[in-house]
Amino acid sequence: MTPVHDRTAWLKGGEAVCVQPPMKVERTWRLVLLGPPGVGKGTQADLLHHALGACQLSTGDVFRAARGQPAAAGSAMAEAQSQMERGELVRDETVLTLVAERTRCLHCGGGFMLDGFPRTRAQAVALDQLMVSHGIGLDAVVNYELPEDEVVSRISGRRICSSCKSVFHVATHPPEAEGTCDHCGGLLMQRADDRPDAVRVRLEAYHEATEPLAEYYRAEGLLVTVNAHGHPDEVFAQTLNLLARRVLKA
Ligand code: AP5
Repeated sequence: MTPVHDRTAWLKGGEAVCVQPPMKVERTWRLVLLGPPGVGKGTQADLLHHALGACQLSTGDVFRAARGQPAAAGSAMAEAQSQMERGELVRDETVLTLVAERTRCLHCGGGFMLDGFPRTRAQAVALDQLMVSHGIGLDAVVNYELPEDEVVSRISGRRICSSCKSVFHVATHPPEAEGTCDHCGGLLMQRADDRPDAVRVRLEAYHEATEPLAEYYRAEGLLVTVNAHGHPDEVFAQTLNLLARRVLKA
């Protein structure tokens, strides 16, 4: 059985600890995964975790995990939840507070993949400062590229298990029984922000705020560009190849 990817410390923050120790790794990878919403970052993060041991640190997952928890009306988390539902970016201040509360995950022995962070130039600058202050550096920033019509088709067909959060796609990765999770039998749902009106807002936010980060990281010599077209295994093989080439060059 595939071991569960324990991300308790990241998802809960505060004093929460992961029960499972990080995977023993030959090399500690510290990566950022960039790319438009729905391009397949989460899918690749899962494959990369099993290959490299690095833990998927997704800011979107932290906001989703906080859903249903009591958040005081008017609090930063309540505001973040409604911004997320509309497809808007959460305010930099809120995101940076969330990351600052979880900096020990940056020292995880298994390494990490930041997924969905940074998303703005201010967040990228803050991450650079955070890494310097912690005496660590990024190995690479993997930027997944895909034509927009394919991105929209991936997002609109995505279904998530309401219980174990496994990800499916109605066409490219359907469950064995329609509407039911293969792993736990939970009900499959569409994410609120995968509806067309929210997707439009997310894509606009991506083009305006996040896409320019590719140039930011190219200038830092960290950018690795991956064509996200094709089966997830092909995209994964390409990612591993490009990362291996980077190591050889270094
Ligand atoms: P977040 O959770 O980060 O979402 P996202 O970036 O929009 O990415 P997604 O999770 O939608 O997609 P993905 O690229 O992981 O694709 P997946 O692998 O699931 O953020 C959500 C929201 O939170 C934001 O909109 C914002 O409001 C807020 N937020 C989070 N971080 C923030 C930050 N730093 N600053 C401000 N706001 C922030 O794949 C998608 C589908 O495609 C699946 O169905 C999958 O099965 C299928 N698929 C995957 N790969 C392939 C393939 N190769 N071929 C065919 N199908 C595929």
